[in-house]
Amino acid sequence: MPAQNAYVTLNNGVRMPILGFGVFQVPDEQTEQVVTDALAAGYRAIDTAASYGNEEAVGRAIAKSGIPREELFITTKMWIQHTGEATARREFDKSLRKLGLDYLDLYLIHQPLGDYYSSWHAMEKLYGEGLAKAIGVSNFYPDRLVDLIQHNDITPAVNQIEAHPFFQRADYQPLLREHGVQIESWGPFAEGKNELFTNPTLTKIGEGYGKSVAQVVLRWLIQRDIVVIPKSVRPERMAQNLDVFDFELAGDDMTAIAALDTGASAFFDHRDPAMVTWLGGRRVD
Ligand SMILES: NC(=O)c1ccc[n+]([C@@H]2O[C@H](COP(=O)([O-])OP(=O)(O)OC[C@H]3O[C@@H](n4cnc5c(N)ncnc54)[C@H](OP(=O)(O)O)[C@@H]3O)[C@@H](O)[C@H]2O)c1
Repeated sequence: MPAQNAYVTLNNGVRMPILGFGVFQVPDEQTEQVVTDALAAGYRAIDTAASYGNEEAVGRAIAKSGIPREELFITTKMWIQHTGEATARREFDKSLRKLGLDYLDLYLIHQPLGDYYSSWHAMEKLYGEGLAKAIGVSNFYPDRLVDLIQHNDITPAVNQIEAHPFFQRADYQPLLREHGVQIESWGPFAEGKNELFTNPTLTKIGEGYGKSVAQVVLRWLIQRDIVVIPKSVRPERMAQNLDVFDFELAGDDMTAIAALDTGASAFFDHRDPAMVTWLGGRRVD
């Protein structure tokens, strides 16, 4: 099945590509070309954020591509500094303007920090006005997610969280399913940490299918019904990362990958007070 035809259906009926393209840490000056290459390779879902500083460049690539708007699925995220009801609305308008769009497919609260309840109220209104086709959250641990769901009208359509072979989130997935929240992986390759790309288990499994480690990892996530948004600045890797719909990992390979879980982030703990302070103090334009 070509990547363009593989979707998940969110809790409000919106269809989201199960495989998209992320632009975190793509320098602003490189982003227009990188997104142009990604769209040419066949990606139709792009994941950015206000805090990535490259929304305008993403917007230029989208405009230049000539791809009909309805064929694209564009996600961006609101930074902590901009939480609050009025601020969230203003920042949404700013992101939309930078992206050159008149609606977003998915708008996410980037972190469960700051006055995000007020942001959520603003986002519920944006959703009601049709300006965001779906709204969701990112980096929400189970307690924060359940609390947000319990005290608001709209259940997030998506929770974008760290998920890769070393931090698999299998224990979290049933709760997300129970509430109808789609899990989306960030950092599917753990950004290469723990020597993921030369991991012996993943390498051996890949050899059995004639696939790379990257392809095995993406396929493994997709078979777990997890949306993936790998990032690469290289066209050959963009193509490779899309080419994961012509094989299926067998049960024993899924089990072997499950054994790689460390149960902990490969990056940092969102509940560490020092990290909360650092994130909360980070300023973006
Ligand atoms: N919500 C959040 O807090 C959050 C946090 C982090 C990320 N994200 C989102 O998730 C997306 C993906 O995560 P990520 O960018 O952090 O990391 P990632 O996708 O796990 O890893 C990207 C790294 O893998 C390399 N790579 C990509 N394809 C490869 C392949 N086929 N073979 C070998 N190396 C390959 C890339 O290098 P090259 O570019 O040189 O190819 C880059 O160094 C982000 O872009 C962003 O949209 C969200």
